[in-house]
Amino acid sequence: MTQRRLDSVRSMYDERSDQYDENEVHVKQARDYLQWAQLKEGESVLDLACGTGLVALGAKSVVGPSGHVVGVDISEGMLNVARRKAEADGVEVLFLNHDISDFSGLDIIPKGSRGFDVITCAAALILLQNPLQALRHWKTLLCPGGRFITDVQTKDANLIMNIFAAIAPEVEESVPWEAQRWQSQDALEQLVVDAGLVVQKIFETDSYATTRYERAMAPDLFDRAVVKSMFKNFGREAIREKARALFIDRIERFARPSGTVNEECRYWVVIATVP
Ligand SMILES: C[S@@+](CC[C@H](N)C(=O)[O-])C[C@H]1O[C@@H](n2cnc3c(N)ncnc32)[C@H](O)[C@@H]1O
Repeated sequence: MTQRRLDSVRSMYDERSDQYDENEVHVKQARDYLQWAQLKEGESVLDLACGTGLVALGAKSVVGPSGHVVGVDISEGMLNVARRKAEADGVEVLFLNHDISDFSGLDIIPKGSRGFDVITCAAALILLQNPLQALRHWKTLLCPGGRFITDVQTKDANLIMNIFAAIAPEVEESVPWEAQRWQSQDALEQLVVDAGLVVQKIFETDSYATTRYERAMAPDLFDRAVVKSMFKNFGREAIREKARALFIDRIERFARPSGTVNEECRYWVVIATVP
């Protein structure tokens, strides 16, 4: 990842960290990860882009004291929330600040093992510039037969993120997520296969949330979006009016012909193993 991109992700999540757990979608998805992972007592888990520890702390409660959980994230704000929760619950999880796309020089495989039993990467793959390179490396951190679970949001799951990604080039901005790459479940399957993993299951989740947008809401949606850390670059004075017009135009196009867009927040999830 380029330093600029990492800095952008870091500051985006540092700013969001204290409110992050208020988003029910992430809380529910983390709960589902624990089911999909089918963890057993004593297993070792590496949770990549662990954020506030929703998956990592849940995993520790299943693998127990004989298990071992490591969470890695680039945002110190998110990690601090995770560490505070771990301390409050008296839970031992190792939370490390590192770029998950490059672990070179970091020795994290549990001592005396051939790798982690399970690696999870929840709600973060779309933030990586080169996910294939990252997955090939993560595979080396798994033990033979180890399980890997990740997801990407379905192509229509987040209208606002998609619109900002689409208009970014027109206002000479960039976004630190890859909306275009993830247009189908097949793209996720192909990535996992190319990384040398064996797909056990790939599926689309039920909807975690439904949001209804109306054409008339567009100006207000833009104004509310650009005060958030994720989209604040589009609120810079130099480009704000152009970005606003482009944003409103996109919403209007999406909302045709009925004047409304219903967004379903779903994910494509893959569960794979090391052959
Ligand atoms: C949407 S949050 C997901 C957090 C957590 N996995 C969850 O499900 O709640 C995305 C996380 O990915 C982290 N992240 C993004 N790119 C990263 C990278 N290259 N290295 C480490 N963490 C990264 C962000 O800091 C953020 O905490």
